[in-house]
Amino acid sequence: MKVILASDHGGINLSKEIASLLEEMNIEFEDIGCNCEDSVDYPDYGIPAAKRVADGEFDRAILICGTGIGMSIAANKVKGIRAALVHDTFSAKATREHNDSNILAMGERVIGPGLARDIAKIWLETEFLGGRHANRIGKISDYEAIK
Ligand code: RB5
Repeated sequence: MKVILASDHGGINLSKEIASLLEEMNIEFEDIGCNCEDSVDYPDYGIPAAKRVADGEFDRAILICGTGIGMSIAANKVKGIRAALVHDTFSAKATREHNDSNILAMGERVIGPGLARDIAKIWLETEFLGGRHANRIGKISDYEAIK
């Protein structure tokens, strides 16, 4: 699995935590920043990361900002992206099993690093269940195709 990691200034500390988790899990990843303390705009990082997932260069992305909300809204504008804003472990598992989410968004100002690591680990390790859930995702893809 190849993962692309991005954050704005509001997510840099959590982004570093997730980078070290990916290293521990031996998951190949590219960190596209911002790695900065100056104020930046989350779409400038979230949209390019989402496009690289949608284009097939990466399997998944993890996007972090202050709340995770801006990153998830921006990423979900990219066709083929199913970005899930997750701040609990139950949803981390469910969104992989049911939604086949290809992007995880989290907010550094919302949860602590320990919970965020648990969420990311579960999200990275959980497989999509397919079946009726695939039909439902198909309806989203059909809508994207005609939009
Ligand atoms: C930056 O201040 C903040 O707005 C951003 O990190 C994010 O929370 C937006 O949704």
